[in-house]
Amino acid sequence: MCGIVGAVAKRNILPILLNGLRKLEYRGYDSAGVAVVNAEDQISRIRSVGKIIELEKALDRAPDIQGTTGIAHTRWATHGPPTESNAHPHMSGSRLALVCNGIVENHESLRLAQKAKGFEFQSDTDTEVIVNEIYQHIAQGADLLNAVKSTIKSLQGAFAIGVISADEPYRLVGARRGSPLVVGVGKDETFLASDMSALLSVTKDFFILDDGDIVDINGTNVTIMDQLGQPQQRQLKTSTLTAESVELGEHRHFMLKEIHEQSTAIANTLEGRITGTGLLEASFGADATQVFDDTRAVQIIACGTSYHAGLVAKYWFEELGVPCQVEIASEFRSRTHAVPDHCLVVTLSQSGETIDTLSALAEAKRIGYGSSLTICNAPESSLVRESDLVLMTHAGPEIGVASTKAFTTQLVALRLLVIALGRRRHLSMEHEAKLIAELRELPAKVDEAIKLEPIIKDIAEQFADKHHTLFLGRGTHYPIALEGALKLKEISYIHAEAYPAGELKHGPLALIDSDMPVISVAPNDRLLDKLKANIEEVRARGGKLIVFADVETEMSEQKNLTVINVASVDSSIAPIIFTIPLQLLSYHVALIKGTDVDKPRNLAKSVTVE
Ligand code: AGP
Repeated sequence: MCGIVGAVAKRNILPILLNGLRKLEYRGYDSAGVAVVNAEDQISRIRSVGKIIELEKALDRAPDIQGTTGIAHTRWATHGPPTESNAHPHMSGSRLALVCNGIVENHESLRLAQKAKGFEFQSDTDTEVIVNEIYQHIAQGADLLNAVKSTIKSLQGAFAIGVISADEPYRLVGARRGSPLVVGVGKDETFLASDMSALLSVTKDFFILDDGDIVDINGTNVTIMDQLGQPQQRQLKTSTLTAESVELGEHRHFMLKEIHEQSTAIANTLEGRITGTGLLEASFGADATQVFDDTRAVQIIACGTSYHAGLVAKYWFEELGVPCQVEIASEFRSRTHAVPDHCLVVTLSQSGETIDTLSALAEAKRIGYGSSLTICNAPESSLVRESDLVLMTHAGPEIGVASTKAFTTQLVALRLLVIALGRRRHLSMEHEAKLIAELRELPAKVDEAIKLEPIIKDIAEQFADKHHTLFLGRGTHYPIALEGALKLKEISYIHAEAYPAGELKHGPLALIDSDMPVISVAPNDRLLDKLKANIEEVRARGGKLIVFADVETEMSEQKNLTVINVASVDSSIAPIIFTIPLQLLSYHVALIKGTDVDKPRNLAKSVTVE
């Protein structure tokens, strides 16, 4: 959570910092701030509550603020409410400013010690202790770099920081432990940011800092050191992202843009991974064949939408005889496990920086699980670096907080993994060729599903005054119901629950009345008759149903039953197709509700706190 940008240049860097913050707003958006070293070698700082636009307005009222060295921050509150005094940058005295993304776990003891030394705190944050700690080292004679080095030794937790001092006006020191940080290299100017998207308008060349790294940007010199303070050569990488890929373009919201990008994202995720009839196993990495030969079971770990993708995959794996467990990362990491033999740990993550998933992977390694594989959308992310095997989803940057194309491409990547492991179990060559052919059809089928948008837009009207919704599904479509419910609550703030349809009679039926819409997906599979019976149970109790049904189910409209026909698809790809109308429904309900679709309240895109 939170986004950091920093710069040292020979021009006024304020526009660069603001542009970077706009790109990082997905990481948090409850307050923002900027601090620059001005022409008089003083620090000018402006902070404001709310989104970046509020900071821009505040800066418009202070046109004299300019500088060639500076830092900026967009916040997702952890310690202390979103107020101006809690917004970053935080200062100690008037000549030292710092931005931080993450949490300092031992902030209470540091705060007590600093108070005893006479420090007066200006905020409720855990961050302020860091800048005070640096201040003390400088007061004892250290320069900015050495003060940062000494300070981070005393910090517990996961964080990334950027620090400037008016006494060293062309210097910016950054450090990362747990949270991401990249260094952008321009011509005679250097930048720091939480991710590359923030800097694409000024550079495409980046050093990706390793965990524990410290970077000293001093004029045009850049020195990267490891956690022991030893200088290190990190490879300069050129980003393949374009500035346009993180722009809204013609779309009203990133979420809508990303829903519409799904056929391309899926095609890109399949490209180079499949031949006419089979899977190219090397797509997972050089050691894939050896690791897969050794794998007897799969443990999937993920959070939120990525967890739902894992739940779908469990059905797929076990259908081919591969035992599979799926667990929410924050639960996995904090309980005792009976570790199975030869179990491949699979993490799923759009961002690759979700701290719960990273910690769960570390725990899995610690307690003796086998090899690890990540399915991830962010190259160079921590999960990618920490995993033995990697299959990137080539969805492109996902900016909307509500995950859409990352989910469907994760499902595609999981199908590839299911094929790879299924080969070692019940999957014949003929069956594999059939599954591959079905995957090839996906992009066209996705585009067909997107054409339902006008009908879905009309249906969304029914939710304008609703406070609760129930989603039903069976088999692989139970996780799709969970995902539909998550999308709706996330962006429209309507309370939504999902149940396996067969579980209704064990309690949730009591909730049914004409005021709570019930949404179901009805693929044409072997569970259809049972699902139809569950739908009747709802209707018999006065519930109003909206069913997205495979056209071949021949379900028809009746009293209290709205049927939206979805083009027929094979059951292996049906969960991917049935996700699309649920995404569109939540989007259009959110529009009607007037919420901030791309930046729903209280949330952030990349969850880098525990
Ligand atoms: C999805 O709409 C959510 N915003 C959220 O649940 C997300 O999927 C979760 O935080 C996991 O993120 P990751 O895929 O980046 O690890």
